[in-house]
Amino acid sequence: MKPSFSFLLLSFLVFSVTSFSQKIEVLTSGTKTSIRGLSVVNENIIWASGSGGKVARSTNGGKSFEWITVKGFEKNDFRDIEAFDSNTAVIMAVADPAYILKTTNGGKDWKVVYSNSTKGMFLDAMNFYDSKHGMVIGDPINDTVFQAVTSDGGDTWQVYTKYPVKVDAGEAFFASSGTNLKYFMGSYVLVSGGTKASFIFPETKLKLDILQGKESTGCNSVAYWKGRWVIVGGDFANDKDTTLNCLYSLPGPPRFRRPATPPHGYRSCVAFISKKKLITCGTSGIDISTDGGNNWKLISNESYHVCQKAKKGKAVFLAGGNGRISKLIE
Ligand SMILES: *[C@@H]1O[C@H](CO)[C@@H](O)[C@H](O)[C@H]1NC(C)=O
Ligand SMILES: *[C@@H]1O[C@H](CO)[C@@H](O)[C@H](O)[C@H]1NC(C)=O
Ligand SMILES: *[C@@H]1O[C@H](CO)[C@@H](O)[C@H](O)[C@H]1NC(C)=O
Repeated sequence: MKPSFSFLLLSFLVFSVTSFSQKIEVLTSGTKTSIRGLSVVNENIIWASGSGGKVARSTNGGKSFEWITVKGFEKNDFRDIEAFDSNTAVIMAVADPAYILKTTNGGKDWKVVYSNSTKGMFLDAMNFYDSKHGMVIGDPINDTVFQAVTSDGGDTWQVYTKYPVKVDAGEAFFASSGTNLKYFMGSYVLVSGGTKASFIFPETKLKLDILQGKESTGCNSVAYWKGRWVIVGGDFANDKDTTLNCLYSLPGPPRFRRPATPPHGYRSCVAFISKKKLITCGTSGIDISTDGGNNWKLISNESYHVCQKAKKGKAVFLAGGNGRISKLIE
């Protein structure tokens, strides 16, 4: 049977409506923890980490979450997490002292795999290239960024000094979503904030056209997909301000452009969903772009700290204050 014209028109309308209406479904909330670490292994396995020594884990796509308090770490703030499967995950506690812990039995037991009580230590983000190789960065001490690497899935960590990264006075890294560090071409890219906002590729440092100059300003997150970069940030102390809060680039060497319609406020995390589709979130809401970061549409005014697409699969999850974990429904 040949489809009639009206059938085609109807399909088109249904398609247009669904493709432009995104919703956020809250999966869990109500615990006191502020979540900034989120790692989505696949459509079913979701791990999150936050303040008060809390870790959350779901193995059924978020239908239910198991909340874990890591024994002896009830006062620590786990600002980042990397999960590899339903049993294995690495968490990062920022400071006093800084710790990295690992579980291999779904969060029942945690082993301290790294600790550093140097004065001024503050870990900001972790990123893994695969299930073995990862890096963690921390705020600069004596103007040098703290870097440590693992090549055994986080079982051991070595301070990394091969390419020391020097920053300016007052330039540092936000620990707002664990996404200002990104594996790239055998190395890592970092984006900074504070007095300066830079794109740092070990030996190259580009000054960015992102809001900077104050402790609360700068880059918070960087995302990469097949030659395209997107960076978000702004001023967390003035979270509705849209001034210089985002940059994007087209495939090729990173030449950053200002978006025509920027995200609607300070944003702490950005993630690619597909080649040109992105999600970004912050304390003043969530935006979606379908053109590689040039135009952003506000889809929610709700506060979230972190958003991540499944490493394997299409599902997108968000997390934030009050133990809230949500799913993007398209
Ligand atoms: C702790 O961090 C400091 C500061 O970066 C570094 O010099 C030192 O080697 C680290 N210690 C350990 C045990 O990793
Ligand atoms: C930073 O510099 C001070 C003063 O020079 C020195 O005592 C300290 O050991 C240095 N810290 C690190 C981690 O290199
Ligand atoms: C966000 O809040 C503004 C101002 O209150 C309102 O106009 C807008 O419709 C809201 N947007 C969404 C997506 O909820």
